[in-house]
Amino acid sequence: MEQTKQILSSKSEALVEKENKYGAHNYHPLPVVLDRGEGVYVWDVDGKKYYDFLSAYSAVNQGHCHPKIVGAMVDQAQKLTLTSRAFYNDKLGNYEEYVTNYFGFDKVLPMNTGAEAVETALKLCRKWAYEVKGIHENLAQIIVCENNFHGRTTTIISFSNDESARKSFGPFTEGFIKIEYDNLEALEKALESSKNIAGFLVEPIQGEAGVYVPSEGFLAKAKALCEKHNVLFIADEVQTGIARTGKLLAVHHENVQPDILILGKAISGGVYPVSAVLANNEIMNVIKPGQHGSTFGGNPVAAAVAIAALEVVKEEKLAENSERLGIILRKGLNEIAERNNLITLVRGKGLLNAIVINSDEESDLAWEICLKFRDNGLLAKPTHGNKIRLAPPLVITEDQIKECLAIIEKSLNHFRS
Ligand SMILES: Cc1ncc(COP(=O)(O)O)c(C=O)c1O
Repeated sequence: MEQTKQILSSKSEALVEKENKYGAHNYHPLPVVLDRGEGVYVWDVDGKKYYDFLSAYSAVNQGHCHPKIVGAMVDQAQKLTLTSRAFYNDKLGNYEEYVTNYFGFDKVLPMNTGAEAVETALKLCRKWAYEVKGIHENLAQIIVCENNFHGRTTTIISFSNDESARKSFGPFTEGFIKIEYDNLEALEKALESSKNIAGFLVEPIQGEAGVYVPSEGFLAKAKALCEKHNVLFIADEVQTGIARTGKLLAVHHENVQPDILILGKAISGGVYPVSAVLANNEIMNVIKPGQHGSTFGGNPVAAAVAIAALEVVKEEKLAENSERLGIILRKGLNEIAERNNLITLVRGKGLLNAIVINSDEESDLAWEICLKFRDNGLLAKPTHGNKIRLAPPLVITEDQIKECLAIIEKSLNHFRS
């Protein structure tokens, strides 16, 4: 197998060096330095154009620098950026009305990042458990899934089983029970194991773990089990939400309305950090002034940006596009897999997909393939060793998908032994 060299221009090299020298080494980026984006494309500092097949981990669903969303941000930024929640502002209420109607909940709690929104949901769930369900103080348990990814805070990594995310960051937060993903029996057993179960936190598709799609019916049956046990079904749709999987929410594939919905990333189209936790009054009303918040959460720029980003999803029918083009993408990938045994599996929903590469998790083959994709004009990154996530902006067209399939095949053929 020929190694793909990481050749960078001196301009790119200098910028990478700077990040290495002055920035913490908490990421391992693919060697490409970008300075412009538009729709499905990004350009590097030397002017080379690429298809973006990561979409900033599904934040840029509406395409890079969508003019309507950027316009909303610029207009609002010139008028009022931040008041904190010490005062009211003229944008937040409109956004709260819009987003709650959009997703069908009574109330929203606005935050900034996905991890913050997950933290918020956990706090909300615990408080509901003590004040509404009647669990004794400090005894609440929340069921989570193995191989989950919900972010990077201390509490969230407490229930991760990714050792690199946890090692040397303890002591950890208690109160979580881990079960196998997509295992209803394990869920039922956990629900029956104690009267102190408050919630079940789940990704409708496990994105970071490698785009694991649960068995059909899992989400609907899990929700029914939670209802039976008076336990909150908490859907983390930070990655799967907002049209990415071919429906507005991934839980909509099974007609599930979560008790608590967590959103982030694409709620702003990747333009600004916006996240949200949605729930009905019975749950959300347990939060009183002073008990939770964030200086930036619900600021006027975030509110204006999120309304514009959500409008774009509807106006441009992004869920429908994602559903239709996802089928075409997976069909094309499966056809490539028939011709090239480097792909052992294709999986996904809508435009959240992954290919599993014929190598073990420790091999750097998937990384090498991504370098080759880059050389051929497409950016993607391995997740968990031998899986490559393929998740372009949802504004992509059928012709562009076909061009990308050709790039993928050409790149993979380079590695054929
Ligand atoms: C399902 C899920 N939840 C939460 C997060 C954390 O979001 P953020 O990186 O904005 O904190 C992510 C990020 O990838 C995610 O995929």
